Amino acid sequence: MANDINKIKVWDGFVRLFHWSLVICVVANLLNEAGDAPHRYLGYVAATLVVCRIVWGFTGSRHARFNDWVPSPRTLWHYLQNLRRGVHWHKPGHNPAAAVMMLALMLVVLGLAGSGWLASTDRFFGEEWLEELHEALAGGLQLMLMLHVFAAITESWQQGQNLILSMLTGYKQQTGKQQDADITG
Ligand code: HEM
Ligand code: HEM
Repeated sequence: MANDINKIKVWDGFVRLFHWSLVICVVANLLNEAGDAPHRYLGYVAATLVVCRIVWGFTGSRHARFNDWVPSPRTLWHYLQNLRRGVHWHKPGHNPAAAVMMLALMLVVLGLAGSGWLASTDRFFGEEWLEELHEALAGGLQLMLMLHVFAAITESWQQGQNLILSMLTGYKQQTGKQQDADITG
């Protein structure tokens, strides 16, 4: 029915710019592992993007805000229980499992910048444990990214809409069911 499907604005311009700029910085650094100047600067740009996104999480538009999508442990538990029964999430922002992944991705990027910076200071230069930490965080990030992309594709298929395109245009299609969930909170 024509009434059942509406386009709604979910991701504002900042969230979209943040996402795709972060993708460029992270992918570039995973491909160039030399730890040279471009690697260091791109790492700092990635961390700055995350810090700005955290500020935007308190000040940005409705679905950009943390209070729209960061779940309580109880909400996350209910979401996972429902998923097992085949009941899916009907709100437009990040679902609770995606939300945990988003926070983890941002934390790991901050951890990479922090460990990379420390390893380049006089005090900690050459410390093996720091280099190993940096390497382990980069390895963890790659596994998380595989899961993230896999989830974006399978969730798009499940919802019958291209969520990756939504991260470019800002719009999602909202069904009647989603509108009810959105109104009831
Ligand atoms: C998005 C952020 C970053 C990512 C994804 C990233 C990723 C990586 C990866 C995959 C390696 C190779 C590790 C190995 O196999 O030995 C590496 C090495 C290195 N990175 Fe980063 N990095 C980031 C940020 C930074 C920053 C901000 C700095 C410094 C200011 C830095 C400094 C270094 C250095 C010096 C090395 C070479 C020595 C080592 O292995 O520790 N990185 N990075
Ligand atoms: C270096 C790689 C990537 C990183 C670090 C990353 C990180 C993130 C983060 C932090 C968010 C939350 C956005 C926000 O609320 O501001 C997000 C959302 C999203 N990302 Fe990525 N991402 C990466 C690559 C990708 C790729 C390659 C795709 C597409 C295949 C993708 C698809 C998405 C989608 C569809 C969302 C929104 C999910 C939803 O609708 O709830 N990401 N990503």
